[in-house]
Amino acid sequence: MIDQERDERAPLGPGVPAETVLAELRRLRKLDRPTHGGRLFAYVYDPAVPGLDELAVAAHAASAHVNGLDPTAFPSLLAMENALVGAAARLLGGGPGSAAPDVVGSVTSGGTESLILAVKAARDAHPEIAAPRIVVPASAHAAFAKAAHYLRVALDPVPVSAETLRPAVADIAAAIRPETVLVVCSAPSYAHGVVDPVAEIAAVAAAAGVRCHVDACFGGWTLPWLRRLGAPVPPFDFAVPGVTSISVDLHKYAYAPKGVSVLLHRDAALRAPQYFAFADWPGYTMINPVIASTRSGGPIAAAYATLRHLGDDGYLRLAALTRDAVAGLADAVRGVDGLRLMAEPESTVVCFTSTDPELDLFVLVDELAERGWHTQPQLSYADLPASVHLTVTASVAPRVAEFGPDLLVAVAAGRAAGPVRLPDELRALATTLTPEALTPDLVAGLAAGLGLGAGADGENPAPAAGGPLPERMALVNALLDAAPPALRERLLVEFVGLLQRPTW
Ligand SMILES: Cc1ncc(COP(=O)(O)O)c(C=O)c1O
Repeated sequence: MIDQERDERAPLGPGVPAETVLAELRRLRKLDRPTHGGRLFAYVYDPAVPGLDELAVAAHAASAHVNGLDPTAFPSLLAMENALVGAAARLLGGGPGSAAPDVVGSVTSGGTESLILAVKAARDAHPEIAAPRIVVPASAHAAFAKAAHYLRVALDPVPVSAETLRPAVADIAAAIRPETVLVVCSAPSYAHGVVDPVAEIAAVAAAAGVRCHVDACFGGWTLPWLRRLGAPVPPFDFAVPGVTSISVDLHKYAYAPKGVSVLLHRDAALRAPQYFAFADWPGYTMINPVIASTRSGGPIAAAYATLRHLGDDGYLRLAALTRDAVAGLADAVRGVDGLRLMAEPESTVVCFTSTDPELDLFVLVDELAERGWHTQPQLSYADLPASVHLTVTASVAPRVAEFGPDLLVAVAAGRAAGPVRLPDELRALATTLTPEALTPDLVAGLAAGLGLGAGADGENPAPAAGGPLPERMALVNALLDAAPPALRERLLVEFVGLLQRPTW
C-alpha cells in the first residue's frame, strides 16, 4: 500500500505476492528498536530461551482465527483461559488448600484492560454510590487514571514519599471516603519497582469495607520466584487478608507475546459486576467478561504454550538470571559519580537519577541510545526528580558486563554535551501556556522546532526514511519536563496526533 499510484476505484492497489509483502514488513521492522538481545529496557520482555518464540508463534497461528466471543463455540479457548487463570491464581496465593480457595478470574488483553475491569467491578458493585471514587498511590500505573476517566470515577491520588517512593498507610486511610469503591496498591510500581505496603493498605481498606486491588501486572510473575530464590519479598498476594483482586500480565514476565493479562478476584461474587451481558436486541445474546467482544485466540494460545513450555523450573531459572542482571546493572549505576539509584532494587527494575546539574538525564538517554542501549526517560513529578527506568529481563544477563563501561562513556559524553538548553521561547511556552491556549499553529510551530511530525510539504516522511521522530529526544523530553502535567498531556496528544496521519 506504500508508493501506489492513486486510483479511487482500487484503493488498496493490486494484490502483491506474499514474498514481496513479507520483504516490505521486514524493511519496516528495521525501523524498530530491537525486541531481542537485551538492549531495550522497556516495552519488551525477552527471556532469550531458544525455540520459545517459534513455539509461541506456532501456537498463536493455530488459534489466531478462533473467536473468544463465545466460549461455547470454541471450548479450546475456554480450556486455555481456565488453565491460565488457575496457574496465575496458584502462583499468587489462591486455589485449593490456600487462604483463597475460591479465586476466579478472566484473561484480558493487557494490564490496562485488567485495571479498567477491576475498577468497573468495584464501581458496579455499588450502584447506590452516585459519584464513586478510587484511592491510588501517586505511583500507581497511569492505567488507573485512564480507568477513572473512562468510567467516570474520581481519582484520589495519595502522594508517595521521595525517600521510600511509597505512600504512607495513614494517608491512604485518610483518603478513603464513603464514596470510595476501591483502594489500589502496586507490587511493584512500574516507575521505580518498589512494592507498596500491601498488607497494611489492604487492612485499612478492609476496615473501611472497601475492595483492595493489587496491581501486580508488572511483578506478579517474578516476585513469587524471586521470593523462592531468597529475596525478602513482602506479602502482596491473596495470602494477605483484604486483598480482593490482583492483576498480573502474562505478556510481561511470563514472557508470552503481547495481548494477555489475568485479572483475579478472591471469589465469584466479587467478579460478577465485571461482566457485561445484553440480550435486549435482535442479534445474538452477548455476554462479555472483558472489554473486547470478538477477540483472537492467538495471544491466549501463545501464552498457554509459553507457560506450559517454561514451567516452574523455567521461570525460576529466568528469575535467577534476571535477579543477577538487576544486581549487575545497579552496581554499574552505583559506580558512576553523579548518578543515584532512586531505590535499592527489590524487583526487576533499576531506576536512577542524576545528582549532577551538568549531567542531563535526557541527554544521557540519547547518548546511551547512540551506543545501542535503549532506556526509558521518566519526567520529574511533584518532588521526585526525572529518572531513567530500566525494565530488566533475563535476556539482559549476558549483556551486563558491556553495560557498565558503555554507561561510563555515555555519562562522559553527556557531561561534555552539557544539559539541554531549551530556547527561551520554548521554555516560556512550556511554563506559561495553558492547555486551552494551545492553537494548531502553536502546536505546528512547537513540533517543527522539535523536529517532530510532518515534513515541510505536510506529508509524513516515508517510513523508510526513518520515521517522523528526531534521532535525539532530549529536547522533546526537556520541553515536556518543563511543562506542568496538564500541558504535558495536551502536548502529547497533539504530537502523537501529528504522527498518526494516513499514508496516501
Ligand atoms: C504495574 C503496571 N500496571 C499496569 C500496566 C499496564 O499494562 P499494559 O501496558 O499491558 O496495558 C503496566 C505496564 O507497564 C504496569 O507496569
